[in-house]
Amino acid sequence: MSQIFKQHLEQLKEKGLYRSLRVIHGEQGPWVELEGKQVLNLSSNNYLGMASHPRLKEASARAANSHGCGSSASRLICGTLELHEVLEKRLAKFMKTEAALVFNSGYAANVGIISSVIGKGDVVFSDELNHASIVDGCRLSRAEVVIFPHNDMTALEEKISSSFRQDPDRRRLIVVDGVFSVDGDLSPLPELVRLADKYGALLMVDEAHATGTVGPGGRGALAHFGVEGKVHIIMGTLGKALGGFGAFVAGQRELIDYLINTSRSLIFSTALPPSVLSSALAALDVLEENPSLVAKVRENADYMRERLKALGYNILSSYTPILPVMIGEAALSTEFSELLLKEGVLAVAVRPPTIPEGTSRIRVTVMATHTREDLAFSVGVFEKVGRRLGII
Ligand SMILES: Cc1ncc(COP(=O)(O)O)c(C=O)c1O
Repeated sequence: MSQIFKQHLEQLKEKGLYRSLRVIHGEQGPWVELEGKQVLNLSSNNYLGMASHPRLKEASARAANSHGCGSSASRLICGTLELHEVLEKRLAKFMKTEAALVFNSGYAANVGIISSVIGKGDVVFSDELNHASIVDGCRLSRAEVVIFPHNDMTALEEKISSSFRQDPDRRRLIVVDGVFSVDGDLSPLPELVRLADKYGALLMVDEAHATGTVGPGGRGALAHFGVEGKVHIIMGTLGKALGGFGAFVAGQRELIDYLINTSRSLIFSTALPPSVLSSALAALDVLEENPSLVAKVRENADYMRERLKALGYNILSSYTPILPVMIGEAALSTEFSELLLKEGVLAVAVRPPTIPEGTSRIRVTVMATHTREDLAFSVGVFEKVGRRLGII
């Protein structure tokens, strides 16, 4: 038996695609302790430093003390707590929608939402760089899946109009990341809204990396483009810039009620516990009281973008705190990441199957809590390693 797995693992190693878990000790901050050594963390989605924010820690501990540790059941049984209700109202207000619904993770949300709103006989148009949870939701739905080239609106319109001509009454869903998790660029939302309107399609935007990083007050890509109220299904996460765990969907009341009745990842899973819900509420307080955090992460990202570009790195059209440092081959990007780590910088290689063959990269993410010295130090390391491997 173990031979089957071993053989597969050997093949992954040969291709430079082997993955293993790394253990962080202590808190998730701009620097973390890895294998007994302090390293600069350029890999987390903790963009605003909220994961170790005192207000979130305190809220989490307080809720555990007052409400206990678990929710005891799924949402429809007896796991819906008053904190769910409070958080959902707050999220709806934050996203400027009628209602919101908390899910246990972004993965569960995407899989549960997509497989509920479309099914056999329907068609979904999905950007080729959409997150794996969207890909899996599309597969699970059993709808026809049409992949369009990244952010290519001409190609998307060709595909939708041809499907529309064949059968105008079919249910259609367009689904995109608001901010793409590996390229760090934005979806052209105004154009997507136009296409969805024109062809009567539902539009779903995953704001996982947009909440807290783009738009006025960190309200995401919809706010950035001024298209709030024009997207039917908005999904967001609580475990990235909001520093905790979990996810949500926001939209019209009927959408939320429909998902409560049909979304299997919501119905058949134990609800989030009080500590997590409470820390999400505290994160929204911190974000609303400190819009300068969003400005700070943006300033840090701009600095890194300029410095890495000046060194000669290709970082595509990154616009957010996610900067893809393009390397190409998987094995080379792994070696690059290992050398960075030896020099005290944690920046992980992203390789196939997460991204297409030949586009392996180091995914650099910056935080509002990185100092200018931290970032300048990492630029020096990128220069040293890049020259050593002949990349720059
Ligand atoms: C775009 C996107 N959507 C969804 C998810 C899944 O969210 P979660 O980590 O909360 O499961 C992620 C990240 O992991 C993501 O990058």
